[in-house]
Amino acid sequence: MNKNFLIQEIIRLKKEKNVIILAHYYQDEDIQNIADFIGDSLELAKKAQNTNADIIVFAGVHFMAETAKILNPNKKVVLPDWNAGCSLADGCPPEDFKLFKEQHPDHIVVTYINCSAQIKAMSDLVCTSANAKKIIESIPAEQKIIFAPDENLGRYLQKETKRELVLWKGSCVVHEAFSLDKLIEIYNKNPTAKIAAHPESEEHILKAAHYIGSTSGIINFIKTDPAAVFIVATEAGILHELTKAVPDKTLIPAPTTDDNSCACSECAFMKMNTLEKLYLCLKNERPEMLIKDELRIQALKPIERMLELS
Ligand code: 13P
Ligand code: SF4
Repeated sequence: MNKNFLIQEIIRLKKEKNVIILAHYYQDEDIQNIADFIGDSLELAKKAQNTNADIIVFAGVHFMAETAKILNPNKKVVLPDWNAGCSLADGCPPEDFKLFKEQHPDHIVVTYINCSAQIKAMSDLVCTSANAKKIIESIPAEQKIIFAPDENLGRYLQKETKRELVLWKGSCVVHEAFSLDKLIEIYNKNPTAKIAAHPESEEHILKAAHYIGSTSGIINFIKTDPAAVFIVATEAGILHELTKAVPDKTLIPAPTTDDNSCACSECAFMKMNTLEKLYLCLKNERPEMLIKDELRIQALKPIERMLELS
């Protein structure tokens, strides 16, 4: 379908149906350009909680639309592609996690927001990369904690908070793909550069980073730090917002281990959403996110606790 037609129709339908389009920074740039709000996972959850729109179109991945529905049972939540998953959410099946939890009965459960509603329903607290440290630090020192599903973020939190965490072995396929050798090579050619990394990245990448934070945290760091060159270790979609925000700075995507790919790391799940699918979900109001009330109420509790603490 013609791009101009899609843009005009999306704008028309948005107004007609009182819709808000929420998009993550990893979305395709056409989607970011047409969104009403772009943010990191925490900002998107907060926006979903506070909107007056009748319909939420969530341009992100499945667990994000699910979180929006958990927070808004009376609103219609639709997503461009039902199959836009996440390796972290998919790598933590509820049956296995239940057994894992049973092996650590005296632990409370903190889960990264990148997990399914079933996992959230088994959690005491949810966190995002933006507030994970604060959430862990809010828990009394003597309390034992399970952290799932991101092992890299968990390891980073152990270091930052000096707490022992029992870690689920999950990872983000995108952030695990960065190559330290190639990063060092680029850094040696740009010795004044600052390296900004997402905490889903592996420990050796985080050790090399000057700044570690959520997508919004990385954007704010690059906006405010006086350096002129930055190496960005997160999904490449973030470069769209960064290029607009700091047109005079040089942005280098952190290289991946894959010699055949482009130099940057792309999330295949996030990129399943297209402008055409966005238009169709707005027009047809499906696929629609629906969650059984019992599950929704259980999953809501740890999300609300997180939002109270954030
Ligand atoms: P944030 O935008 O919260 O940093 O999350 C990154 C991510 O991988 C989302 O899936
Ligand atoms: Fe999941 Fe990683 Fe994609 Fe984020 S970038 S949605 S954590 S697979």
